[in-house]
Amino acid sequence: MQIIDDPSTIQRRCESLRREGQTIGLVPTMGALHAGHLSLMRSARAENDVVVVSIFVNSIQFGRGEDFDSYPRDLYGDVAQAETAGVDLVFAPSAEAIYPKGFRTYVDVTELTEGLCGASRPGHFRGVTTVVAKLFNLVRPHRAYFGQKDYQQSVVVRRMAADLNCDLDIVVLPTVRESDGLAMSSRNVRLTPLQRQAASVLYTSLNRAEARVRVGERNAQAILEEVRTMIEAEPLARIDYVVLCDPETLKPLDRIEGPVLAALAVRFGETRLIDNLLITVP
Ligand code: PAF
Repeated sequence: MQIIDDPSTIQRRCESLRREGQTIGLVPTMGALHAGHLSLMRSARAENDVVVVSIFVNSIQFGRGEDFDSYPRDLYGDVAQAETAGVDLVFAPSAEAIYPKGFRTYVDVTELTEGLCGASRPGHFRGVTTVVAKLFNLVRPHRAYFGQKDYQQSVVVRRMAADLNCDLDIVVLPTVRESDGLAMSSRNVRLTPLQRQAASVLYTSLNRAEARVRVGERNAQAILEEVRTMIEAEPLARIDYVVLCDPETLKPLDRIEGPVLAALAVRFGETRLIDNLLITVP
């Protein structure tokens, strides 16, 4: 496995692999790798000749007062894990290499970025789509892999790729969970033992929403109230949002008539966790 930090070097390397007829799978990450990332890497390994993993904590997707400085970083540990997943190239650039002096261009997907995390993290998705567009240009992958835990991100990236005619497939894979259902996240390591225990309420409450839909409840407000009550019963949890929305447009729903995305963001102390469940109507 090779580690490359220079954008032009990764670009040249990937270009020559492409010319040789090799297919390239890209797994974009911010490091602090966990089993969720590894499952993306393993799928990329199975479906492509070459697997590239990017590790870059992207400052421009963090708002003021967010956790950019305290975001977990462990490049050596990440590289070791990537190697076990059969990754060929790790691209780990510096901030200056990605955003050199004079950088002025941003990629902004409208509407889909306004609700859910976009409402509480203004500018977040602009930062995500800007760096992902740059990674797509540098690596020119045939496939790029994202986790369903960041559902809104996957919808936004798909839209960007279609709108900018990016010639690749976006592959979205299921959320990997701990044994109590908590979605794997790099931020989980920052939870205290009590917060960690409390955080299992997220998946339990999403399952409650699904169970209500399955028994025929169609009133979104009634379900949301129940989910909120469950989360609020947990003294360490502070709700940022809980929504039932259309899985494609991400617009909140009043009545459930087709597939629905239950999505939430909840804070435990300083740590903000997100999760979601795609619910199909029987
Ligand atoms: O999902 C993430 O880890 C990040 O948002 C991504 C896609 C690597 C862009 O920085």
